[in-house]
Amino acid sequence: MTTQPSGADETGEAERATAPGRPGAPAAERHWWAGHEDALPGGLEWLSGRERARLDGMRFTKRRNEYLLRRWVGKRTVAARAGLGTDPASLARIELLNWMTGAPYVALEGVVAPWEISLSDRAGCAVAVIGAAGSGAGALGIDLEVVEPRSEGFVTDFLTRAEQDWVRGPAAADPGLGRDAAANLVWSAKEAALKVLRLGLRADTRSVEITVESDFLGDGWARFTAARRGGPVMPGWWRRDGVYLLTVAAQDELDPPTVLPGATDVAVATPVHSWVGNPLVTPGE
Ligand SMILES: CC(C)(COP(=O)(O)OP(=O)(O)OC[C@H]1O[C@@H](n2cnc3c(N)ncnc32)[C@H](O)[C@@H]1OP(=O)(O)O)[C@@H](O)C(=O)NCCC(=O)NCCS
Repeated sequence: MTTQPSGADETGEAERATAPGRPGAPAAERHWWAGHEDALPGGLEWLSGRERARLDGMRFTKRRNEYLLRRWVGKRTVAARAGLGTDPASLARIELLNWMTGAPYVALEGVVAPWEISLSDRAGCAVAVIGAAGSGAGALGIDLEVVEPRSEGFVTDFLTRAEQDWVRGPAAADPGLGRDAAANLVWSAKEAALKVLRLGLRADTRSVEITVESDFLGDGWARFTAARRGGPVMPGWWRRDGVYLLTVAAQDELDPPTVLPGATDVAVATPVHSWVGNPLVTPGE
């Protein structure tokens, strides 16, 4: 463990993000968890002082709600993985902070914890994937999307030529997938991969090419790969749960993540946009 007083140390993050998995080692075990905003605790006692300070700077309800939901899901994921309590005081001791890249990390009692974690939320649901740092899969990325219509302009502007051909051809003709789900899936897989690379949407989305497989395992996951132009090929897994699409990518070989106890069943979760009626945070909230 390393002490992390400032909450943002780019050097430590860079070292961790590029640490390779052990050659020849079995694929690393990873876990995921999901939560819906309906279950978010009412007060804010479950946040640390640093998390609360960041929240206090947010004026837009959407941003604030999403930040809170991702914090709560990240904390519950760490608690479920490490066998920690979920009362507000216990959750406040688990911090979800961010490196300068924006990538998240976990601190326990103010000390950086040896976990890889990635967070995502969409329409009232949030997800996290977690694993022990240095145990094989390297950096992780997760993304959650709702299947929604995507324009031809979106497909042309953000997808590579090969991805466009797949979305408009075989995927559109596949009754189990369809054009819009395929376009959202490719987008989600790109976001997960760009989180592994710690770039996010600073990078050109066409600099990573997604190849999707549709052979589902018993637990609902199917493979994809994300090939960075001139760089590594990252393994990934995807699943469709109701209206949601979930993707997880890693730096090195990765088994399908297993769900931790107490997670929301995303397949029956209702997408919500609760910020719409109240877009600006009321002073004192
Ligand atoms: C990564 C990114 C594409 C995700 O955006 P999104 O799809 O709207 O949101 P998601 O809910 O799926 O993911 C958000 C989470 O991604 C993670 N994230 C942000 N930047 C990341 C990066 N560079 N690498 C890995 N993960 C990142 C964070 O955990 C964030 O949640 P948090 O801020 O509450 O910790 C987007 O945040 C991005 O492009 N970030 C980099 C550029 C940027 O503006 N960074 C700000 C630095 S402070």
